[in-house]
Amino acid sequence: MKKIEVNASAIVYNDISELSEADLTLMKAAISAKQKAYAPYSKFSVGAAFILENNQIVTGNNQENAAYPSGMCAERIAIWKVGSEYPNVKIKKLAISASSSNKIVDKPVGPCGGCRQTLSEYEINQKEPIEVLFMGEKGAVVKVESILSLLPFSFDSSFL
Ligand code: THU
Repeated sequence: MKKIEVNASAIVYNDISELSEADLTLMKAAISAKQKAYAPYSKFSVGAAFILENNQIVTGNNQENAAYPSGMCAERIAIWKVGSEYPNVKIKKLAISASSSNKIVDKPVGPCGGCRQTLSEYEINQKEPIEVLFMGEKGAVVKVESILSLLPFSFDSSFL
């Protein structure tokens, strides 16, 4: 028997004004994408923006459905856009922003578990980490160095 440590470090910025110019540009793309979310049921809008190694920015937002499980998160919509349009281009970074029309979201909103799993496969395949920045509508912004740092003991194709 042994005990192991599973560590993840993150940078926490007090707010968006502390971001580098490049990170701010990507977060602004996520915020802009969020405005076009289709979230009539949860009233919770999420925007996601990837920047690729060719500097292309690809965005997505959550798209809900009256049959609730038929909707999809912003992060998966965005990553599937990347996978379908730029299958051989590496991804550098992801920015996420979330807002609610019911309340002010002032805490950083990380990607859900299902999105972490989906995103992890793209990171593994490209053999380079994808930085992730996430925030609510205002307040702190969290930055982590990779998708896998958000998903310890993850499931991948090596188990199959
Ligand atoms: N949502 C996302 O778009 N990304 C996440 O990581 C968490 C949740 C969406 C799904 C749904 O439309 C709404 O937020 C409330 O769960």
